Amino acid sequence: MNSDSDLQIAGDLLEVQHLLRPAREHPTTVAEFVGLARAIAADRAQWAHLVRYDTTTRWYHRLRTGPGYEVWLLSWVPGQGSGLHDHGLSSGVLTVLDGELTERTDRGKRTLGSGAQRVFAPGYVHEVVNDSLEPAVSLHVYYPGLTDMPMHTAQCAAVRAAV
Ligand SMILES: [Fe+2]
Repeated sequence: MNSDSDLQIAGDLLEVQHLLRPAREHPTTVAEFVGLARAIAADRAQWAHLVRYDTTTRWYHRLRTGPGYEVWLLSWVPGQGSGLHDHGLSSGVLTVLDGELTERTDRGKRTLGSGAQRVFAPGYVHEVVNDSLEPAVSLHVYYPGLTDMPMHTAQCAAVRAAV
């Protein structure tokens, strides 16, 4: 507090609603997108009944959309993976909801357990796989919505050799 200032707030600030910024209905910052993903992760009733495990193909479901963003629910049976890819012009937040996933990049690999989050900018290249023996579920927020997911098949062998 600046003791040189004559300005003080008298009374209860919550009583002067016109001075408060209204709560936003939709996230607009990285922190808010991370928060949205955490809130959904914590509310299993919102997504657990929707999850399907498909051994023949990767399963995904669009859980929610908002102005400029999409939220996807994905499942991964053991051995399933995304292949090395980027996300076009989209930024994203990946959150592991259940199980364990492995993320590989040209910098190495990291294990993502339940609750782990990764935030990435446009152009980020990675591969996500379920290297475990149990199914996994993940949540993906894309801003803007994912319209392109270029595969990087030529670099795949090099990344796998590096990790
Ligand atoms: Fe990705």
